[in-house]
Amino acid sequence: MIGVFDSGVGGLTVVRALLQSVPTSVELVYLGDTARVPYGSKSPATVARYSKMAARFLTDRGVELLVVACNTASAFALDELRASLSIPVIGVIEPGARGAAAVSAAGHIGVIGTLGTVRSGAYERAIAAIAPVAVVTSHACPLLVPLAEEGWLDGDPIADAVVRRYLEELRAKDPLLDTLVLGCTHYPLLKPNIARISEEVFGRAVTLVDSGEAVAAPVAAALPAVATDKLERRLLRCFVTDEARFAEVGSRFLGRPLDHVEKVDL
Ligand code: DGL
Repeated sequence: MIGVFDSGVGGLTVVRALLQSVPTSVELVYLGDTARVPYGSKSPATVARYSKMAARFLTDRGVELLVVACNTASAFALDELRASLSIPVIGVIEPGARGAAAVSAAGHIGVIGTLGTVRSGAYERAIAAIAPVAVVTSHACPLLVPLAEEGWLDGDPIADAVVRRYLEELRAKDPLLDTLVLGCTHYPLLKPNIARISEEVFGRAVTLVDSGEAVAAPVAAALPAVATDKLERRLLRCFVTDEARFAEVGSRFLGRPLDHVEKVDL
């Protein structure tokens, strides 16, 4: 059983990637801390405290592997979670960094994420450990989270204008970027605008790396060989700390209706 946790609804983009790569005999349990979202604007200590409570909720339910789908929680709490839990804990930052280092031809990598993720410097550290000569430039794009939740996506004039402004600010920091890490659970929904507008702003195609998709490989590698595709369709159990709008917004993030949503207290 794999437990996936996020600050809210966004981690369902990571579940979506896992559903495609993890055998159906592996049960997925999701916890969205929707009562306390966003994590992206909170202090490191608060994010670490909330993350430990979320992890405890999932380990109490018997999960054998924990995926920290939230970039901000991965940035601030991964080391503490690994030190305190006896099960494997996989965050999204290292896989995203690895993916970016693998595809960047020019070695100029951009990272977009929440204020917390950007301030933490976690992507810079993770990329430097793999590709020490890479130039990494990060930029906080907080308005993309509410836009994605509102469903204002590709072609929406306001969403396009916000994406353009953030990418122009990023270009001012490093015009040579050839790779961009989507370092936030919500950004995959805006991938078409980010791809199109980054090509216009940088004057060439920029390779996008989705940290949520990148985490699927290390998760699959951590599974026992006995895991099989013996079920036609697995049930996804979702727990939330507040249920308002979760099912409606969540189905857009997951790409299918949610099976089971239960409100819990941590
Ligand atoms: N899940 C968060 C992340 O990936 C974005 C939403 C939030 O700020 O909590 O960083």
